[in-house]
Amino acid sequence: MMAMPRICSSIVSAPHYVHLLAPWITNETRNRHSVIFEMPTKSREWLCQHIVEDAPDAIIFADREGRIQLWNSGAEAIFGYRAEEVLGHTLDLIIPENLRARHWEGYREAMKTGVTRYGRELLAVPAIRKDGTRISLEFSILLVRDDGGALLGPVAIIRDVTARWQREKAIKQQLAALEARGTRVEPPPDRK
Ligand code: HEM
Repeated sequence: MMAMPRICSSIVSAPHYVHLLAPWITNETRNRHSVIFEMPTKSREWLCQHIVEDAPDAIIFADREGRIQLWNSGAEAIFGYRAEEVLGHTLDLIIPENLRARHWEGYREAMKTGVTRYGRELLAVPAIRKDGTRISLEFSILLVRDDGGALLGPVAIIRDVTARWQREKAIKQQLAALEARGTRVEPPPDRK
């Protein structure tokens, strides 16, 4: 497995996490992603490692073959598996059966081309927790390379949006019920 600080530095320079480092951003570096070079190397590695380990979002790194190599505390909380239960296993553990073919097709293509469309866009999918419950996720993907530019594998930065999905589903059902009764529902003023 590659060194933790190296991969952690790559992850925290992903767009999601740059804002966490705001105290170290100066005017000259404000518009750049690699904003942490002004800190001493040791503190930077320490900081990066702690951000990745303790982030409430799930941060999962898998190698080119799709075997899990990094599973932070956010991943433990969201999926219910402890790191030692999943390291070395394939991502199939958390992917619903009906989505596995699509996932692996996209995965192999991204490993071949070195490109992912989910660097900025969010991939929204259902997943399965250890206890069998289905949850709704949104995540972005970062492809990690070594210092020589060789592709090592993808990192997914994942948020559990189950509660929001359920609220939106309930609102849609209420709207459909109102419309079925002939009540015309106007969109809120800012959506017109
Ligand atoms: C949590 C459960 C997951 C589900 C249900 C899932 C599902 C999917 C689906 C449906 C696609 C195809 C997207 C498309 O065609 O646009 C996909 C692509 C992909 N997934 Fe997963 N995935 C999961 C977790 C992960 C994780 C944890 C990683 C990385 C560590 C990952 C890496 C990828 C990659 C690299 C692609 C290709 C992206 C691209 O086309 O740009 N997935 N996945």
